[in-house]
Amino acid sequence: MMKIVVIHGQNHKGSTWNVANIFLQDITGEKEVKEFFMPRDLNHFCTGCYSCLESRKNCPFWEDKKPINDAMKEANLLILTTPNYCMMPSAPMKAFLDLFFTNWLAHKPYEEMFKKRAVVISTASGAGAGKASKLVASNLLNWGIPEVITYGISVNAINWKMLPDRKKKKIEKDMKRLATKLSRKKKVKVGVKTRILFWLYGGMQKANWGASPSEKEYWEGKGWLNGVKPWKE
Ligand SMILES: Cc1cc2nc3c(=O)[nH]c(=O)nc-3n(C[C@H](O)[C@H](O)[C@H](O)COP(=O)(O)O)c2cc1C
Repeated sequence: MMKIVVIHGQNHKGSTWNVANIFLQDITGEKEVKEFFMPRDLNHFCTGCYSCLESRKNCPFWEDKKPINDAMKEANLLILTTPNYCMMPSAPMKAFLDLFFTNWLAHKPYEEMFKKRAVVISTASGAGAGKASKLVASNLLNWGIPEVITYGISVNAINWKMLPDRKKKKIEKDMKRLATKLSRKKKVKVGVKTRILFWLYGGMQKANWGASPSEKEYWEGKGWLNGVKPWKE
């Protein structure tokens, strides 16, 4: 069964949500979908206290983060959605990414991330949907997710109701194609980019350049500084 977690960078069900919803409907086969809305389900900003670097549980917002954290670890596919706000991802999406910065390869990445795929969806009324989605995707690549697909579309509208029919048709066609493409994929392929990032950050931990000694302990404990690769069983 395909386990899907959707993180929406907005509370409302506008154009971005609708694009993601069409995509979800197009994913065939048995699936379990968990949706989280920002800020509804994680209404905080990172305080910059760095407590999470010692242990994720030390984050003052861990109680709210844990259900999202656990669902993301279990999922096969992550879908992150954001409207384009001022040529960037929405502020709630940025706050979400900040709150999970411990996931970065520079800190304490989860081995589960190396075995999943992600799709980032963004809409803009004019320009910049591609830009916003790529900014989110770069975070996910740095979490160790090897296959991240971005879909950004200019919808020429400020809400879903105003969307021209030709745009809706295009979105439906694109989402069908994306869902088919994903259904044909089998094992997640760990590409050169992820391997290089893993090697670079491993080297950083070996040289004691990490942000906290507990990071090196974490990497050592996993055997990652001695040849073990998180994408292998
Ligand atoms: C605060 C704010 C900033 C925006 N900035 C841009 C922008 O820089 N470029 C653009 O093309 N559209 C911009 N828009 C329009 C939205 O990106 C667009 O309407 C999007 O499809 C909204 O998605 P939603 O219906 O899911 O909220 C902005 C909208 C808001 C509310």
